[in-house]
Order: sequence, then C-alpha cells, then structure tokens
Amino acid sequence: MALLPILCYPDPRLQKVAKTVATVDARVTTLIADMLDTMYEASGIGLAATQVDVHERLIVIDVSEERDQPLVLINPELIWTSEDKHLNEEGCLSVPGIYDGVERFNAVHARALDEHGQSRVIEADGLLAVCIQHEMDHLMGKVFVEYLSPLKRGRIKTKMLKARREESV
Ligand code: NI
Repeated sequence: MALLPILCYPDPRLQKVAKTVATVDARVTTLIADMLDTMYEASGIGLAATQVDVHERLIVIDVSEERDQPLVLINPELIWTSEDKHLNEEGCLSVPGIYDGVERFNAVHARALDEHGQSRVIEADGLLAVCIQHEMDHLMGKVFVEYLSPLKRGRIKTKMLKARREESV
C-alpha cells in the first residue's frame, strides 16, 4: 500500500491533458492499487491519475456507502449522454473544503477498460454519473472550479494559496 501526494488547485500540473494508457501492465496495476488507497484514505469518491501527477487516462471511483465497490476506468470515453442536465454540489480532493454547484448530464454511458484491460460499458446515473464526468474533466486538465464565475474562482484560488502558505510555516 502506498499513498500518493494529491496535487492541490491551482497547481499548474492539474491542467495537463492526460495521454492514453498503452497497456494495462504491472506498472498500471500498481498505480491503480495506490490510487485506490489514496482515494479511500482521503475519504474521496473519485480520483483521476492527473491529481497524483500521472498524466494518463485512468480514474478510480467508489460511490458506494460501504466503500467496497471500487470502479476502475482506463481510457474512458463518453459514448452517450442524457439530454437533461442538473446542478449538483461538487467537491474535489484537489480543492479541499470547497463545494459548489456544477451542471452535469443526468446520465452517461462510458466505455472504458477495467483493471484487467477488458473493455466494458458503464451505464451511470445519479452520483456515479456526476463523478465520472468530474473525473474525466481532470484527465482533460479541467478542475470543477473552472465552471464557476471568475470572481468565485479568484476567491478560491486566494484561499487555497493562503492555506498552503500557512501549512508550510
Ligand atoms: Ni476532483
């Protein structure tokens, strides 16, 4: 078990666009295990490789109440989205303590490889659908606060930088 450091907004590395995972080999298997450990330890429901400074298309999710249903999506693509969207309160392990509303599709279908390299389609709605969209944004270098107004985003940035300064004292 290894815990990986999570990048904090506005770290510029969170803006990097992730590359396709070429093969699901031992290195990727270890990365998945470490990302799951890191996500559970931080009490998060999702984590993208981007957030641990690995710029490859890989996300881990667990939206279950018991925290025992890990979901791994490698090279995820949205193949269908619902017409309707809804506003949902989101947070992010890279923006600790900040929660705000973001519009997301109510439901999505995503095609991805699982942890064994098998292609599968995940039909998601509710929290899982929101989480998949949030984590896939990370792979494109996008953090949820970028959907908010420039004013709100500026305030969050200031707060994050101030928190980091206080931590390093
Ligand atoms: Ni996030």
